[in-house]
Amino acid sequence: MADTTSCRICEGTVEEFFDFGRQPLSNAFVKPGEEKDEFFFRLAVGLCSDCRMVQLVEEVPRERMFNEDYPYLSSGSVLMKAHWEAVAQRFVDREDNRDDPFVVELGCNDGVMLETVAKAGVRHLGVEPSGGVADLAAGKGVLVRKDFFEEDVAASVRAEHGPADVVFAANTLCHIPYMGSILRGVRDLLAPKGVFVFEDPYLGDIMAKTSFDQIYDEHFYFFGAHSVRAMAALHGLELVDVERLPVHGGEVRYTLALAGALTPSAAVAALLAEEVEAGLTDLETLRGFGARVQRISDDLTALLTDLRDQGRRVVAYGATAKSATILNYSGIGPDLVEAVVDTTPAKQGRLTPGSHIPIVPAERFQDPYPDYALLFAWNHAEEIRGKEEGFRASGGRWITYVPEVRVTSD
Ligand code: SAH
Ligand code: TYD
Ligand code: ZN
Repeated sequence: MADTTSCRICEGTVEEFFDFGRQPLSNAFVKPGEEKDEFFFRLAVGLCSDCRMVQLVEEVPRERMFNEDYPYLSSGSVLMKAHWEAVAQRFVDREDNRDDPFVVELGCNDGVMLETVAKAGVRHLGVEPSGGVADLAAGKGVLVRKDFFEEDVAASVRAEHGPADVVFAANTLCHIPYMGSILRGVRDLLAPKGVFVFEDPYLGDIMAKTSFDQIYDEHFYFFGAHSVRAMAALHGLELVDVERLPVHGGEVRYTLALAGALTPSAAVAALLAEEVEAGLTDLETLRGFGARVQRISDDLTALLTDLRDQGRRVVAYGATAKSATILNYSGIGPDLVEAVVDTTPAKQGRLTPGSHIPIVPAERFQDPYPDYALLFAWNHAEEIRGKEEGFRASGGRWITYVPEVRVTSD
């Protein structure tokens, strides 16, 4: 096992602090009969001792993950839809007093955010390499370019449309190992006072809640204010604002501008100080994470084994990318969890990657209700518990495992 690798941001030394072992691609839901063809890689995380970026040590080729068959749909959650509308409105309002503003989104997926921008008549472009979801965005009246965003694509976008007032990326920047090319591209695309706004799972929340299932093939980086400030500075950009968000288990929205163009807010200094206090830049603190992961994994496996031995039915809720990490790390399969329910058409009828649990439509949840439901989509707990009142009324119990294994009847 390699203990150190070279940082994908600054070429410094990355020291590994946790190894999840052999894992499949989290969104590669398997057709029954094709279990033998799965791709595996070693999922391990480390900290760069120079720029302090937490990152995976092994990179999966991007076309294996993001292609025509990419199944994830951003519009799959009603509460998240409200979040995207608020984001879009903010850009529309911000750009209102400029002549002909231009908004670019990296990883626009099915167009859930840009649809609102398009309806407001604001000039926009989504850059999205996964063909299936890009087509859904185009069907909503969103202008989409099917490409992986990087330096040369940025140059051609600028040549065709002019400079961007806003470049936005949600749950996408952390997916992209080739960060130098991205940041040089953004820098060259931005108008002089333009901003690059991106929101991604926050390292501070992952460590505080031990939400280790945020670590999987697609999530290559785990950003914090320290590492984002460092990566921006390497490419002529500056971190000018941070805002904590409650979505997806805790994220931060970072705003970058061209170096010197805007004054950094007080929130940046405050978050930097908080991170030092929490030890997020310190390898020893991060090493403590592994023992907590192991505890959750052991507790969950013991609980599920117990329930099986008592003859109880357990169904999981939400075939999330996140669930691949816990299922494969803990060795949980169809003997412990009989099925996973999910609303996404492209996931239904398939098996969970590596662990091969059948995925069935959400309507099957009540047909009949199981005794226990393992909530894989724990980041959508409020929405799911709300719409599954009938499960609770039937005496069903929810199992969650972040920040610790809990069984609840509410
Ligand atoms: N923004 C959406 C989608 C997140 S999923 C949301 O927050 O829900 C990540 C998306 O990034 C996928 O649709 C994937 O195809 C896209 N992506 C991956 N690499 C990319 C790149 N280099 N440029 C633009 N999009 C990319
Ligand atoms: P999500 O947690 O957003 O992301 P990831 O795959 O990156 O971990 O995935 C939520 C999954 O749960 C998605 O497959 C849709 C499904 N889902 C339901 O089946 N019902 C629901 O009510 C909601 C909100 C999500
Ligand atoms: Zn580094």
